[in-house]
Amino acid sequence: MNQDYLEELFSKIDITLPAPEREPERQYYFMKKLRSGIKELSERIGHTPAYHVETFGCQMNAKDSEKLSGIMSAIGFIEATGEKSADFVIYNTCTVRENANLKVYGRVGFLGNLKKKNPNMLIALCGCMMQEEHVVEKIRTSYGFVDLVFGTHNLYMFAELLYECLNRKDRKPLVRVLAASDKIVENLPSEQKFSFKAGVNISYGCNNFCTYCIVPYVRGREKSRRPDEIVAEVKRLVNNGVKEVMLLGQNVNSYGNDFRKSSDIPEECKKDFPELLKMVSEVPGLMRIRFMTPHPKDLSDKLIEEIANNPKVCKHVHLPMQSGSSRILQKMNRHYTKEDYLDLVKKIKDKIPGAALTTDIIVGFPGETEEDFEDTLDVVRQAVFSSAYTFQYSKRTGTPAASYPDQVPENVVSERFDRLLALIHETSEKLADKAVGSTVDVLVEEINESKDTLTGRMDNNMLVHFKGENRLLGCIVKVKLEECKGFYYTGSVLNLD
Ligand code: 5AD
Ligand code: SF4
Repeated sequence: MNQDYLEELFSKIDITLPAPEREPERQYYFMKKLRSGIKELSERIGHTPAYHVETFGCQMNAKDSEKLSGIMSAIGFIEATGEKSADFVIYNTCTVRENANLKVYGRVGFLGNLKKKNPNMLIALCGCMMQEEHVVEKIRTSYGFVDLVFGTHNLYMFAELLYECLNRKDRKPLVRVLAASDKIVENLPSEQKFSFKAGVNISYGCNNFCTYCIVPYVRGREKSRRPDEIVAEVKRLVNNGVKEVMLLGQNVNSYGNDFRKSSDIPEECKKDFPELLKMVSEVPGLMRIRFMTPHPKDLSDKLIEEIANNPKVCKHVHLPMQSGSSRILQKMNRHYTKEDYLDLVKKIKDKIPGAALTTDIIVGFPGETEEDFEDTLDVVRQAVFSSAYTFQYSKRTGTPAASYPDQVPENVVSERFDRLLALIHETSEKLADKAVGSTVDVLVEEINESKDTLTGRMDNNMLVHFKGENRLLGCIVKVKLEECKGFYYTGSVLNLD
């Protein structure tokens, strides 16, 4: 968020008055209150206080972390280089798989040791894990040194919660987790990780209830953001130098479904996802649009047409398949069969020439037999993914699949997982090899000082390393692909002037 704009906003707030009820005005009021205490805090600790936000999990969490960082900067903290030099550490957690969960506990234990050396250190935990009662209970009992716990539904209240936390009478964790919320609060400060690309939330939550997935329980029911507000955010981002946006939702295909029943939304705002894509693409100066994640059960022809015909939309579809077995897909509550999925892949490849397809696959869902797994391998062979995220099934308490009787033994899951990985490597590498020699547009995303190279992202989401000047960071340039190294390429830049 623009600093001058922020200062102007703060100058209009009178903190001697009671807090406003409206959002986000209420949060700016608490930010200003916190700000006024920063000078005193700096004097007490002998330096400008520093924060560190650590993100676990997906792009949604990454986006939420940018909001947390934006609020920390707005109240006068600077960014620390890591936990050790931070006065305030925030872990934005993920609970989609058990190992994500365990990682957080390990890291919080480590923070406890740091806090013993620096008792003034503040620790906040937020995100999906905090929406689970047993997690909060464990924090209260085993990690009592944590200062603040909040969830996914009240992240927007971070400034207010921090204010309350700093003014609490005891040193017990301040726990504020809401079971649900139908509120969407936007226009809070946000600190983008990259100046040239940004995520934009289009909807929150999920209504699909796949039987393995904890997301609907921790992120709640699906709520779409109004299209005019999304477009306004994209315009602001582009004015500040953004070239590429990633539209984020758990199931982008159902964007706007909740508008149909609503009388609060003007008729002209009742858009579906392909219409939203079109509206966003009309923002002048925006060059690329990505989106995550569509669900195969309702990926419409209208969406495929829009991807195919809209030059700003990247020709990349991330289409989570989860399993190739129709029997398992049914037990997963996915609402499509192996054949439906393969038909969809064919349609995408026919209608969007050169489209890159990536996927998510779960191995070892309860009841998965060797035959079911063979079906998964079969789809991988036929669909030919550019890459695939593969996961071993993880039992999540509270989901239907956690209580299915026929859980697959660990050794079987791990042996299948290795076979799947080997096949994906083989098929994806063969596909990637075919692009060698072609010239592609890439967005330069990184400077690798040590290797004296730049890294760019292709339209299809693959990376290419090449020599080039640092000033190209954030620019879209043409690169000739020279060698395929498996999941990335090396190449050389064509338009240096
Ligand atoms: N076990 C393993 N993988 C899971 N995913 C979601 N829930 C689970 C689970 N319980 C995977 C799915 C989803 C991705 C984001 O995480 O493949 O698409
Ligand atoms: Fe989870 Fe299924 Fe919703 Fe994706 S669509 S978040 S896998 S419940």
